[in-house]
Amino acid sequence: MVGQRAAEGRKGGRAGMRLVGGTALAHDDAAVRLDGVGIAFTLKGGKRYVAVEGIDLGVMPGEFVAVVGPTGSGKSTLLNAAAGLLKPAAGSVTVFSSALSGLNARAGYLFQADALMPWKTALDNVAVALEPQKVPRAEALVRAREWLARVGLAAFADRYPHMLSGGQRKRVALAQMLIRDPEILLMDEPFGPLDAQTRQIMGNLLLELWAANRKAVMFVTHDLEEAIALADRVVVLSAGPAAGIVGEFKVDLARPRDISEIRLEPQFHALYKEIWSCLRVEVSRAYAGGPA
Ligand SMILES: Nc1ncnc2c1ncn2[C@@H]1O[C@H](COP(=O)(O)OP(=O)(O)OP(=O)(O)O)[C@@H](O)[C@H]1O
Ligand SMILES: [Mg+2]
Repeated sequence: MVGQRAAEGRKGGRAGMRLVGGTALAHDDAAVRLDGVGIAFTLKGGKRYVAVEGIDLGVMPGEFVAVVGPTGSGKSTLLNAAAGLLKPAAGSVTVFSSALSGLNARAGYLFQADALMPWKTALDNVAVALEPQKVPRAEALVRAREWLARVGLAAFADRYPHMLSGGQRKRVALAQMLIRDPEILLMDEPFGPLDAQTRQIMGNLLLELWAANRKAVMFVTHDLEEAIALADRVVVLSAGPAAGIVGEFKVDLARPRDISEIRLEPQFHALYKEIWSCLRVEVSRAYAGGPA
């Protein structure tokens, strides 16, 4: 466990290294790394709003990192920076040791909102993800069928999105992201709109697929239980404006994990209590309108 790093954390330790859960991580080994990242938006009338500032965050290959923080703290903003959708005003984004410019081609992105094409079947929605790689259509369809089977939708290949439940649509979206075999997964509250039971089923499915082929994952959620159940490390963002990382906690729970079972473990409760004591302060600040 690392705990709060409000005071010292942003500066890190030795040059190029940072201590995380007792392990010194070489920055250059990270799959994706934000260094001193600051992002500001220009508002109507020309005023600038600094959403996040001084963010140092690396995700190692094969590591599952969850980012939690109050609403409006800048979680999506950070993911967008890692995806190359937003250019930071300060700092840098590095992907496997190369400075990111333009879209992050080594990452797959899963949004909170459905991004399936309503005029395409589940099969075509998955197969279309291979188009940029110029995979021949016949091969793309075979691979898309395999992926639909992996997410438990073999029998639903010919259905259009409106003929699928919310959970089923998320499964299609998951297959659509994973079929390209990206090395980094960027997920923005992907299971947010689902009911609690379906969220757990989706969480277990995600962990199962991830265990079979470990990617670097940056997973944003407002649900602390979900974050702990899934991740190797939980990072806490402060309330904005100029949100920063105020806590970083290693999750030492054994894998494989069953999301519904792991919540019953005493170790889970202890961790939840510890992280919540950090997050709670920020949630209260966010609802009070942020810092003065
Ligand atoms: N395009 C924009 N223009 C101006 N302000 C923006 C823009 N995008 C985001 N913001 C502001 O930046 C802050 C961070 O937004 P962001 O969407 O990253 O928050 P979040 O942590 O993902 O919140 P939520 O949990 O509600 O999804 C918010 O205060 C938001 O109002
Ligand atoms: Mg968001």
